[in-house]
Amino acid sequence: MKTFPTSAVWCFGILIISVSLITTGSSEVQVVGPADRVIALAGDDIILPCSLKPSVSAEDMTVQWTRLNLKADILHLYRDHQDSYVDQSPSYRGRTSMFHEELKNGNVSLKLTRVTLSDGGCYRCFIPTLTSQVKETTVQLLVGAVSQPVISIDGTKYWGVVLKCESGGWFPEPEMEWLDSSGTFLPADGPPERHRDSEGLYAVRRQVTVNKTDTNRFTCRVQQPEINLMKETEIHVPDDVFPILPYWWKVGLLIAAAVIVLAAVVVLTASAGVYMWRKHTEKKIRKLLEEQGDVRFVNRNKVHLIQSVTMVIPMAFYLIRSERYSEIHAATTRQDQMIRLYQALDSGGNQVKSDFYRILLDLEPDVVNDRGAKEETRTRAGFGGERSRDCEGVNREIGGESYEGVAVLVH
Ligand SMILES: *[C@@H]1O[C@H](CO)[C@@H](O)[C@H](O)[C@H]1NC(C)=O
Ligand SMILES: *[C@@H]1O[C@H](CO)[C@@H](O)[C@H](O)[C@H]1NC(C)=O
Repeated sequence: MKTFPTSAVWCFGILIISVSLITTGSSEVQVVGPADRVIALAGDDIILPCSLKPSVSAEDMTVQWTRLNLKADILHLYRDHQDSYVDQSPSYRGRTSMFHEELKNGNVSLKLTRVTLSDGGCYRCFIPTLTSQVKETTVQLLVGAVSQPVISIDGTKYWGVVLKCESGGWFPEPEMEWLDSSGTFLPADGPPERHRDSEGLYAVRRQVTVNKTDTNRFTCRVQQPEINLMKETEIHVPDDVFPILPYWWKVGLLIAAAVIVLAAVVVLTASAGVYMWRKHTEKKIRKLLEEQGDVRFVNRNKVHLIQSVTMVIPMAFYLIRSERYSEIHAATTRQDQMIRLYQALDSGGNQVKSDFYRILLDLEPDVVNDRGAKEETRTRAGFGGERSRDCEGVNREIGGESYEGVAVLVH
């Protein structure tokens, strides 16, 4: 009798304990999501994981999947042992399902098919019928998009070939790099060009100028670390695409060197020629000037010479033609003789006058020097003007009538 109540109390105690154990046990059931966000590519079918822990059956529970955006769209609702699509957001119509055979294991994951970029975001797995504190969890979905890069040959630059890599339809924004066949990064021609299309996808383009290598193989790598995806395309550039500049460079240098040497030779020869020609011309001109000086002396001092010279007359025979000489001889006075001699000189031209001056200088130097000194004084007095006039005179003579004078000098 004594033990009954004791055992009853003990049983009751057991009962209390077990009831409280069951109660605490069920109230500790939690909703658990994935440790990481879910990553998918546009078009994929994915599972948004959600389950009960410990794994009690969820068959009798209500499970609500919503999207955590402003409108809190309902994706999926499981209630009264069946799926309910009454309040489902239209953008998810026909794309959601739950694994009914998994519900007894506490697996309330949602399957979402044909994900789009706009599906990216946060989702809530909510079990309102749970009595515990943790009745919901969130799942982050990242939807990416990738595409294979395309390489094209974009011409040549110096000794290299310009390669262009393009890849559109990426999300999130990817990185693009160029590598050689040994996996070494190549310095690109600049940072990648990026733009975003109307659907929010990124397109990237990057150029590189590559030199000839053993393999001529180059790789364009596009990667998106967030979605942990990488796409590579390799190109083999045929040898003959590379400019054959190294060879042409040599030929070009040779040609350039030859041209320079040739130009130098031409310039030297030309300047030597010009120098010689100038020397020659100077000599000619000096000679001509001398002669012109003599002629001018003879012309200028006509009156004086007619009056003062005597000895020169017999010598004039050598200068002029014999019939004129006899004419001179026939004149009675010395002045007359000189006048006739001058007439003969005038018709004889510059050379004869020049020769006459030389004979004069020989035979009657006093007369010449005397007149010469007077002339010089006069010339000095009007140095510039006289001088330039002289030159003009000479030039005129050279250019014009005095052909004879030049001819004489040449011989
Ligand atoms: C839930 O069930 C699906 C379908 O069988 C499975 O792929 C997923 O891994 C399960 N999740 C958990 C947390 O057991
Ligand atoms: C290609 O060669 C040129 C000239 O030798 C050099 O300046 C350039 O850096 C090279 N490019 C690469 C990618 O090695």
